[in-house]
Amino acid sequence: MLRAGIMTKTVLVLAVVLAFSGSVELVRSAIGVNWGTVSNHRLSPSTVVELLKVNKIKKVKLFDADPDCLRALMGSGIEVMVGVSNDLLPIISSSTAAADLWVAQNVSRYMVKGGANIKFIAVGNEPFLASYGGQFQSYVMPAITNLQQSLAKANLAGAVKLVVPCNADAYEANLPSQGAFRPELSQIMTDLVTFLNANGSPFVVNIYPFLSLYGNSDFPQDYAFFEGTTHSVTDGPNVYYNAFDGNYDTLVSALNKLGFGQMPIVIGEVGWPTDGAVSANVDAARIFNQGLINHVLGNKGTPLRPGQPPMDIYLFGLLDEEAKSVLPGSFERHWGIFSFDGQAKYALNLGMGNRLLRNAEDVSYLPARWCVADPFKDLSGVAEHFKLACTVADCTTLNYGGSCNGIGERGNISYAFNSYYQVQKQKSQSCEFDGFGMITFVNPSMGRCKFLVGVSEKVVTKHISNGLSLHRGSVILWLLVFSWAVLDL
Ligand SMILES: *[C@@H]1O[C@H](CO)[C@@H](O)[C@H](O)[C@H]1NC(C)=O
Ligand SMILES: *[C@@H]1O[C@H](CO)[C@@H](O)[C@H](O)[C@H]1NC(C)=O
Repeated sequence: MLRAGIMTKTVLVLAVVLAFSGSVELVRSAIGVNWGTVSNHRLSPSTVVELLKVNKIKKVKLFDADPDCLRALMGSGIEVMVGVSNDLLPIISSSTAAADLWVAQNVSRYMVKGGANIKFIAVGNEPFLASYGGQFQSYVMPAITNLQQSLAKANLAGAVKLVVPCNADAYEANLPSQGAFRPELSQIMTDLVTFLNANGSPFVVNIYPFLSLYGNSDFPQDYAFFEGTTHSVTDGPNVYYNAFDGNYDTLVSALNKLGFGQMPIVIGEVGWPTDGAVSANVDAARIFNQGLINHVLGNKGTPLRPGQPPMDIYLFGLLDEEAKSVLPGSFERHWGIFSFDGQAKYALNLGMGNRLLRNAEDVSYLPARWCVADPFKDLSGVAEHFKLACTVADCTTLNYGGSCNGIGERGNISYAFNSYYQVQKQKSQSCEFDGFGMITFVNPSMGRCKFLVGVSEKVVTKHISNGLSLHRGSVILWLLVFSWAVLDL
């Protein structure tokens, strides 16, 4: 009786302990963002970091190791993924000294007291992309080997993990359960996931239902979203209601075939653009991103990983980058949940305490003036100016499906002139265009076609504190004094 009583109590205590540790282990997915900087109108990095903070965004992914961005992130506590760009893979894979230097300059120097909280290094960006024709493929594992040794030498191997963000084109299948990595990648993927597994690193993948829809006129529109579909996909006992889950489980199957079906997955990029294509608009982007966030934070997981959502997802992207290559399409410059100047494009709840996105504060703009085509000039002969302006500045909203498509010939020219003028920071000569241009103080925006005013933000350089190294130094000094004193006794 008594024993039983004790037993019951023990069981009860155990159950409470288990329940407690269980709830501790059940970590909610985190919503992070990609912070790309290919822009002609860059906000100062400190304004961007304030934007992250006010929106309670605690994870950020960079595409490089931009010193200005990293300095601004120092002391913020925000977790950072820095990136080794693909063009550095050859040198880092062939030289341990180059790997050591990269880690020293772009990681170690920020990992000081009050420094940047770097958690991941992305080794290359989509290095296995089919359209690269394998040019980076052979460098990835040797670069990882070298960087891992550099991290170990710098005593950072525990704190910083190496990952490789892969495009979803690394695997393929007609049905999720048949997922497999592309045949030519099978050896390298085996090596990669073996390394990731041994190191406790996640598999990072970029998934873009928008691109499936954009690239395939047969793709069912509603399958790209999370609102239910008339085109569900049946795969044996499983039914898929959205492209994201189907794609995710294709990866799970591919990992499973290599014997790593339980490997944690991080979504390195996912999002929806707001301009530059018919299906790219503010409503679609809001519905997709909110649906995605709710889906992931709802902890439902997928048919192959029920109750197990991705570890983290990084939205693409934080801000518009209107100097990106438009090779993929006009939409490429319009992926931000915020416009270039940190203003929310639509209402979005990131699930982190704020009801909706909050705008960047204290943004400094250039004066409220615009450059347009002189209304009293005949515009024949202006084509060359239009072309030049649109080569330097962004005119992608004028194209088919864009927010400024259909504003007429004169509207087109004014839009191009203004884009150029703002990129040139409103220098007065930049509105001349051989007399065709004219500065105006009346906002020429028409409906949803916005004529922008640039930002005039300055980068304030913060110095890296040597707090920790001083601290470490003094600890070592005290230890020396102490042991000397003890030995002397
Ligand atoms: C690495 O750090 C150096 C020195 O700060 C910097 O010049 C370089 O741009 C960084 N590399 C990358 C890839 O960001
Ligand atoms: C305006 O520019 C766009 C993009 O170059 C073009 O497709 C459209 O036909 C132009 N409209 C007129 C009226 O010239």
